[in-house]
Amino acid sequence: MPTNAAVRTVLVPAAGLGTRMLPATKAVPKELLTLVDRPIIQYGVEEAVQSGVRRVVLVTNPGNTLTASHFAPAPALEAELAARGKPDLLADVRALTALADVATVHQPEPLGLGHAVLCGRDAVGDAPFAVMLPDDIIDADPPALRQMLDIFAEYGGPVLLVERVPHDAVHRYGIIAAEPIRHGVYRVTDLVEKPAAADAPSDLAIIGRYVLTPDLFPTLAATERGAGGEIQLTDGLRQLLRSRPIYACALNGTRLDAGNRSGFLKATIHFASKQPALAADLRETLDSIPVPAAGA
Ligand code: UTP
Repeated sequence: MPTNAAVRTVLVPAAGLGTRMLPATKAVPKELLTLVDRPIIQYGVEEAVQSGVRRVVLVTNPGNTLTASHFAPAPALEAELAARGKPDLLADVRALTALADVATVHQPEPLGLGHAVLCGRDAVGDAPFAVMLPDDIIDADPPALRQMLDIFAEYGGPVLLVERVPHDAVHRYGIIAAEPIRHGVYRVTDLVEKPAAADAPSDLAIIGRYVLTPDLFPTLAATERGAGGEIQLTDGLRQLLRSRPIYACALNGTRLDAGNRSGFLKATIHFASKQPALAADLRETLDSIPVPAAGA
């Protein structure tokens, strides 16, 4: 396999428990929570397609049939919209079905992100692939994955998307040590999952996008449980770093973490304020909310 072969598949791990968003995620998978007018997962699939990758493999828990059905044909709904004379809505529904080729593989138990990626091994095959975490929603032009694919094409090795985070937040992320190659591009020299602030090698956090090569799979298969008792993708990448260079791309865009309450709210406001039909109302509503007095 040429190391810079085209990336045709994006794996979307979506089999986690979503505990930070309970009880909303008790029955509804986190990636189906609605941000303004579409579920979280749709933002990611649209980013993949806009980046030139149409094949999407969802990694879900075995009981989840809802996430894939968001992208599947809905003949009864289409017939009803046609009968009611709603051509615009009908076109929207059909466009969603045609957006991407969506397949599903299962992760039998939520054993960690590294394990979820390993569950996609047969679906990916012997080819480079992307991994996209759906609750990291990225508003960027060009799309974040496109920025990374351009670096992958240039350097021919795995590319991680990174962003500087406040030092007191490093314990929530995979953190890299890295040497700059040029503006916005680094060569990774080490990786550590969820380090204590005192042990973090930098403030550069891996955020939810990866362009990876299939030699990661045997490494992941041999990776033992790490932070939180989970099989961590960061630990597999650390092992892979011994046998090949890994690169990082600094995000040029805005990342919104919709996987927790306050991030979800910020993401909602961010995307609502970009829609002309909602922006003025939203501003008025926000301005009319009294700010509680300090200590109240
Ligand atoms: P998170 O770290 O957000 O975990 O996973 P989570 O379980 O979804 O949510 P919390 O922390 O309990 O609130 C990042 C991504 O990796 C997927 C999740 O579905 C999410 O898209 N994931 C995580 C898996 O697919 N399998 C796992 O075992 C763990």
